[in-house]
Amino acid sequence: MSLVIDGKASAARLRAYIAGQVKQLPSNPGLAVVLVGADPASEVYVRNKEKAVEEVGMASFPHHLPATTSEADLLKLIDELNNNSNVHGILVQLPLPGSIDAQKVLERISPAKDVDGFHPVNAGKLAVGQDGLVPCTPMGCMILLKETLGDLKGLHAVVVGRSNIVGKPIAQLLLQADCTVTITHSKTKDLASVCRSADIIIAAIGKPEFIKGDWIKKGATVIDVGINRIERDGKTKLVGDVDYAAAAQSAKAITPVPGGVGPMTIACLLSNTLKACKISWDKTDEEIKRIQQLAGIKK
Ligand code: GUN
Repeated sequence: MSLVIDGKASAARLRAYIAGQVKQLPSNPGLAVVLVGADPASEVYVRNKEKAVEEVGMASFPHHLPATTSEADLLKLIDELNNNSNVHGILVQLPLPGSIDAQKVLERISPAKDVDGFHPVNAGKLAVGQDGLVPCTPMGCMILLKETLGDLKGLHAVVVGRSNIVGKPIAQLLLQADCTVTITHSKTKDLASVCRSADIIIAAIGKPEFIKGDWIKKGATVIDVGINRIERDGKTKLVGDVDYAAAAQSAKAITPVPGGVGPMTIACLLSNTLKACKISWDKTDEEIKRIQQLAGIKK
């Protein structure tokens, strides 16, 4: 049987560290979470994010808007949040209603407050290896991988899924960690044999139990990003993108669903909010220094 990677425990350690950091700051980091509409899954995610924000001593700025909200009104709210110095991070929960251009909204968020790391400026920084805000789920996956395997150098990582939220950014992070990376998707030919050559599988295709047990090489590590609600035996159940019971027979280590990647996503959101806040303070310091220099107060 494989090692069950305990994302809940890792996330609790990270949250405790962040809470300690928050206490040392001169003022609280603030996160605005914007939810448009009443998608039941999104409502649960947003509630969990807002609760976690308060638990580490950050300030929460919730904005729950009706599904009828216009794109213009949402953009106006983003502008207000960009200009609010108490708000260090802005997260617009996806998916947005079809009447709103999600990309336009994401691009309106100031890159310095883009705690999701979805703005093209942050995506570009990640692609060229510059320091920026990195998407939360990929960052959480990398922390779990490094805690489980240590050095990832030379390992073959197969990413199943090519979304902007998970597949593409995690491929960049795995490359930075010196993995050999294959990005696969729904049109990949003979996906099973590509997966069988993987030392690491990142399952992020959004289909319940899509990756079968006999696709997993003996001794591979499996990170399951999927959160799918299915009906089984008359009950609603959460399952990942991997057939967990079968994969656990071959894998050296595997993340469960729930309790694997999910809690890490929220902990990394807090980490990004802390980072965005610290950067804003550093900038303030820089500005003060510059003004003082201009005024001849400090050399
Ligand atoms: N919807 C599903 N995952 C995410 C995420 O990581 N961030 C946002 N903003 N929306 C999501």
